[in-house]
Amino acid sequence: MEQRVFVFDTTLRDGEQSPGCSMNLEEKVRMARQLEQLRVDVIEAGFPIASAGDYEAVRFIAKTVEHSTVAALARAVTADIDRAWDAIQYARKPRIHTFIATSDIHLTHKLKKTREQVLADAVAAVKYARSLCEEVEFSCEDASRSDLDFLCQIVAAAIDAGASIINLPDTVGYAVPDEYGAMFRAIRERVPQASSVVLSAHCHNDLGLAVANSLAAIQNGARQVECTINGIGERAGNAALEEIVMALKTRKEKLGVGINVNTEEIYKSSKLLSSLTGMLVQRNKAIVGANAFAHEAGIHQDGLLKSPITYEIMTPQSVGIRHSTLVLGKHSGRHALRQRYTELGYELSGEELERAYQVFCSIADQKKEIFDEDLIAIIEDRVGDVDDYYQLENIQVSSGTNIRPTATIELRLGDQRFIDSATGDGPVDAAYKAIERITNVVGKLMEYSIKSVSLGRDAIGEVFVRAEFDGLLFNGRAVSTDIITGSAKAYLEALNRFLAAKKRKSLQQKEELKEASVAI
Ligand code: KIV
Ligand code: ZN
Repeated sequence: MEQRVFVFDTTLRDGEQSPGCSMNLEEKVRMARQLEQLRVDVIEAGFPIASAGDYEAVRFIAKTVEHSTVAALARAVTADIDRAWDAIQYARKPRIHTFIATSDIHLTHKLKKTREQVLADAVAAVKYARSLCEEVEFSCEDASRSDLDFLCQIVAAAIDAGASIINLPDTVGYAVPDEYGAMFRAIRERVPQASSVVLSAHCHNDLGLAVANSLAAIQNGARQVECTINGIGERAGNAALEEIVMALKTRKEKLGVGINVNTEEIYKSSKLLSSLTGMLVQRNKAIVGANAFAHEAGIHQDGLLKSPITYEIMTPQSVGIRHSTLVLGKHSGRHALRQRYTELGYELSGEELERAYQVFCSIADQKKEIFDEDLIAIIEDRVGDVDDYYQLENIQVSSGTNIRPTATIELRLGDQRFIDSATGDGPVDAAYKAIERITNVVGKLMEYSIKSVSLGRDAIGEVFVRAEFDGLLFNGRAVSTDIITGSAKAYLEALNRFLAAKKRKSLQQKEELKEASVAI
């Protein structure tokens, strides 16, 4: 029968306790529900003794979750175990997870206890937890830096006391894969009782090895892996669930174990966590980063269009992403360009494609990313038609705590100049109202974001706006060291795109009228 690895998610405990990742009760419950959709085997819901909020959240989650086991963390002391049990007792499948440090470093500097004392505490804690709850997990905190003889001794004692899951964490992310794997092998070889329990890996990412270490543990007999969505957690984080799970799935022939996770829920889980915590995922993050299934290099795009297997080792759909993206930029080739035009409804002849490609290359040299509007502009010959576009000549803004924000804007259209002022709720609003007064075009701002594209106080800000004009959406983007100037330029870009589209439409209508009158 296939060997299975249980996935123990600790996003709501080890992940949530890290800086910038805290969630309120409602948010934790939403995340727990999503983790159930993901079909993780165990949800570690929190550390109930840590705070009243943690206790309430664990209690609520325990009552809500239907299929996964719900675990609560407790130090190896009676008060913690009581509180943990109090919070999870109504779970359909409850688990008490109790732990104590086992390394001499922790014994000497933190616990100030002897090995004998720690052994006795561990046994008492497991026995007590077991008197309350059928399923008890015992963790040897800092296992990877513990003396192996002592580790074998305490693991054997914890199993005899009733623990059915033994977790051996690399608490400080110090181990390297062969070493961490060897620890699991040694425990299996030297502790006869170990064959009757589930051994668990729990890795932190201080050296960027958390996932590699987790896989090494699995290759050496671990059958539970503890991890978090997006790899959030103490310091550099915990092992990322999505990376472990997709490694086990994609390299099943090599790693040889099955999982129960519904991988198609991975992306949704990652997105939900980011939106709840505000902790964004880096673009190039494996599996869930914005670039994980995006291709820009021409050779890669060409290969991908011929067969996805050339440059993708798993499908985006398998993690819940709708499709791969071909990012059109300076590295893209003709093949990807033609494909994008086809998707936009333009079937180009070889000659048309060649002309579009040449213009595309010259624009791509100046812009980071080419949008669909740019491609349409290329094919409809609107590039360089700058005299039809409003240009920002000057902007002056005053705002402060006790004055009404005011903006004075000067725009140029061909060789004409226009100047006007307006007040608004803030300086950006005032600037947009002044633009509106000059152009007589009223737009509705649907999206607005600023992000820093460089570091330091004089960082360059990139402003992105999406505005609605006459029921149609247009994007604008601009970079500037002054965010108000950038905001005005980005809005003008969207407005100019709208004006160009309007002009194009009216020309088209005139042409159609002309053709119709000729026909009559
Ligand atoms: O990293 C660690 O050792 C832990 C234990 C409490 C399981 O999180
Ligand atoms: Zn941890």
